[in-house]
Amino acid sequence: MRTQSPVEQALQASELRAAFLRYTREAYALLPALERPRILDLGCGSGSATIELARLSEGQIVGIDTDASALAELQRRIDEEDLGDRVRALNASLFDVAWADQSFDLLWEEGVLHLLDPAQSLPACQRLLEPAGFFVMHETVAWFEGVRDHLGTIGLGIFNQLLLPGRCWWTDYYAPLEARIRAFRKEHGDVESAELAQHEREIAMVKADPDRFDCGFFVLHRSRDSARSS
Ligand SMILES: C[S@@+](CC[C@H](N)C(=O)[O-])C[C@H]1O[C@@H](n2cnc3c(N)ncnc32)[C@H](O)[C@@H]1O
Repeated sequence: MRTQSPVEQALQASELRAAFLRYTREAYALLPALERPRILDLGCGSGSATIELARLSEGQIVGIDTDASALAELQRRIDEEDLGDRVRALNASLFDVAWADQSFDLLWEEGVLHLLDPAQSLPACQRLLEPAGFFVMHETVAWFEGVRDHLGTIGLGIFNQLLLPGRCWWTDYYAPLEARIRAFRKEHGDVESAELAQHEREIAMVKADPDRFDCGFFVLHRSRDSARSS
């Protein structure tokens, strides 16, 4: 079993992340009924959304990520919830997977695509999607607006969307995380930790301009025509 580092134990960032699963559930409810869908959770991390998707659907779910430590946490949760017959954690990059075209009915991603070059990542995702499949992205509104036109050119049209309350990533995640880090540092002194430093970099970025991190779930639908022409 993977043991949490002292920093993880003190901060419990995963508990803060879990509060956002209510939006994952609301976004899933925007989809039409999908019968036993094949779902890819791209950049699943430790699998908050992956496990939630298993609860929401009766589908087969693969979570892929390049972070072995996060995947170990997902595997622990798969085992704990006895989901091994439906959920798989795979150490792979979106750009290296060997799946056939149209392998999934639903692609899901939360906070991943903005890290990648859309000119490469969006076609790589579209290729994996079944004709008439769905693609749900949880990203900032600003990022989504920047790729909206490109999505149209590869046959992905907007089907629905869920805009999250303004600044909620700041108020419900980064601000409480900042308070927990402050308390941790007060107790443990000025410790050097790559994990803490990474959290602090993100906090500083979001705190500087919380409105820029207003987010939504964008539900895209692949049109059958685009599948024929691709
Ligand atoms: C901000 S985290 C989001 C994790 C998770 N989706 C969540 O919402 O908790 C971004 C994740 O994308 C993963 N990632 C980045 N590039 C990737 C790639 N090319 N293929 C698969 N995963 C990738 C990272 O390792 C990281 O776990």
